[in-house]
Amino acid sequence: MTRKLGKGRLVAATHNNGKVRELKDLFEPAGLEVVSAIELGLPEPEETEQTFAGNALIKARAAAEATGQPALSDDSGLEVTALGGMPGVHTAIWAGEPRDFYKAMEKVENLLQEIEATDRSARFVSTLAVVWPDGHEEVFEGEVHGTLVWPPRGEKGFGFDPVFVADGETETFGEMDPAKKHAMSHRADAFRKLKTALL
Ligand code: IMP
Repeated sequence: MTRKLGKGRLVAATHNNGKVRELKDLFEPAGLEVVSAIELGLPEPEETEQTFAGNALIKARAAAEATGQPALSDDSGLEVTALGGMPGVHTAIWAGEPRDFYKAMEKVENLLQEIEATDRSARFVSTLAVVWPDGHEEVFEGEVHGTLVWPPRGEKGFGFDPVFVADGETETFGEMDPAKKHAMSHRADAFRKLKTALL
């Protein structure tokens, strides 16, 4: 049975500052105090699963076990239609170490040019997992469809935001006012489902 999330502290099991900002924007108005794995100095577990849900659960389980508090994680990525859904669950890895998202965006663009793709459609996917210290788990998936542009535009946002234009929009997520992005993003879509079920 679905379990409601009471008001109080929620550990955001992510080391990505862009995601922490978005998760705080989404959850704090609902009365939850979001504290990130970065602030708590938690280690970053390895993402060994081949699905967004599997990796989201690895992160949330690790944070719930380490803190004894409910933990929330987001596993997300970009699926490019002409590339058969790549980079998908490997989106972060495509940026190398240390993360260089310009390089990752360029890699996607080079592949699209190599295959002379006319279809530049893509979707962002976000899977939110909530894990309680007693092992109860809930998972929600959201998406936003759009088109990839080149060259990248805009300094706001993070990751692949500068090359993604959501359907019906002209600005990239990198150019868009963050409040507007946060209302239409894949993360917001997953959050709406979570809110209906858990809050
Ligand atoms: P992971 O969920 O930590 O494996 O990383 C997902 C990767 O997908 C991020 O590092 C970003 O490159 C990309 N990504 C996920 N959500 C967004 C978003 O809202 N904007 C831009 N890029 C995103």
